[in-house]
Amino acid sequence: MTTASAERVLLLDGQTTQALACARSLGRAGATVLVASARRRPLASWSCYCERQIQLPDESIDSFAQLRQSAAMLGATLVLPLTERSCLLLNAERGEWQREGITVAAPDATTLEQAFDKAHTIRVAERCGIAVPTTRVPSALAECGDIAAELGLPCVVKGRFSSAWMGTHFLRDTGTSYVRTPEELEAAVLRHRQGEYWPVVQRFVPGRGKGIFTVSHGGRPLAWFAHERLRDVRPTGSGSSLRRAAALDPRLERPAERLLREMRWDGPAMVEFRDDGEHEPYLIEVNGRFWGSLQLAISAGVDFPQLWLSALRQKAAPVPQPYRTDVTLRWLWGDAKRLLYVMAGPPPGFPGAFPSRLQGLREVLGAQPPGTRSETWDPADPWPAVGEWVQGIGELLARRSGSDRDRGSAAVRRNRRLPHAFGRSGTSQPEVTTTPYRPGRIG
Ligand SMILES: Nc1ncnc2c1ncn2[C@@H]1O[C@H](COP(=O)(O)OP(=O)(O)O)[C@@H](O)[C@H]1O
Ligand SMILES: [Mg+2]
Repeated sequence: MTTASAERVLLLDGQTTQALACARSLGRAGATVLVASARRRPLASWSCYCERQIQLPDESIDSFAQLRQSAAMLGATLVLPLTERSCLLLNAERGEWQREGITVAAPDATTLEQAFDKAHTIRVAERCGIAVPTTRVPSALAECGDIAAELGLPCVVKGRFSSAWMGTHFLRDTGTSYVRTPEELEAAVLRHRQGEYWPVVQRFVPGRGKGIFTVSHGGRPLAWFAHERLRDVRPTGSGSSLRRAAALDPRLERPAERLLREMRWDGPAMVEFRDDGEHEPYLIEVNGRFWGSLQLAISAGVDFPQLWLSALRQKAAPVPQPYRTDVTLRWLWGDAKRLLYVMAGPPPGFPGAFPSRLQGLREVLGAQPPGTRSETWDPADPWPAVGEWVQGIGELLARRSGSDRDRGSAAVRRNRRLPHAFGRSGTSQPEVTTTPYRPGRIG
């Protein structure tokens, strides 16, 4: 009997690749897996380990309150959020979840803020002597001229939060902007402002994006993993679509460890740097949740979801062994998205190298590095490999028709704090299904 077999784990954000990785990891360990998402057929619900699927009408406090009721009815023992938005929505009513006997597997709000607020992260990193890009947060447009003179151009502008919680709804950031002139800086600052939060303006750091991954307990990392991004989904830098396990680089591990200790971080974290191989790596951000390429760590031998479950339950965690570095995983749908980004061309002002359309086609359709495996395909759990395309194509079609632009903004209309509009959509109750659309259950 394993630790996990008594657990009924509610995975949120079932549309993400990390949700699928968690479903497989915890399901294999014997846990019962429930999957929730605002999508109709989320990726993780195609897994043979998914016992129940719960569809949320949107991402709002009300939907999460209803989700909590469904979770309690289904006997959930633990809820695991996989995006920043879900972490924030869970923490908004953390006590209520815990009163239902459901452990919230996310750091508390104060700890989380150190990672979710990029300006805060940079301050903590500076305090412990970690190299960071020179960063300014304007409080008026009039400051942009001075900031441009101080940082030099080009510089980058990005929202303070990937998704800023405005009390009733989220405002998502649109991704990093690269700015060449003081006029462009003003426009970008306005574009990335999230309500009262002015954006972060940073010196452009050349080099490659590098991440290092851990689960930390009480500020102490339990295990580390590193990978090499062979292809990013966005050629300007983002999560990867092709990745290879890599040996740990002490130049990244040392500052990441210092930072997480200072934050007293409790839970999963991906610490992101930019590194030109010459200077000290520059800290870019901390993603305080399980990351998109989680399956690679598990396939290489570091089972972070199981490690964290053991830590949360104060059980002796399996001693981490040296992991394999000969594992390369390809996220096929990520590559399809990359191709679309390449075809669209570089964003205005992007100062780095950007692949041509021909290169883009070659790398995605041509031969892959020896030993490359598909991340989603698993003969013991085959349906997610189909689900990935159903979900991805559905996403593209919805975006085209403009119906799914931002489910967070749908929450504005359906939130408890705007009662006149709540429930108009007709699906304000979470729908619980036993994944009926799947052609068959395996295992
Ligand atoms: N100061 C910077 N210099 C160069 N590139 C940057 C800088 N800040 C961010 N980027 C690029 O933008 C990407 C997204 O920024 P990041 O802070 O990681 O936000 P998020 O991942 O939440 O969108 C990074 O992966 C990196 O490629
Ligand atoms: Mg990032």
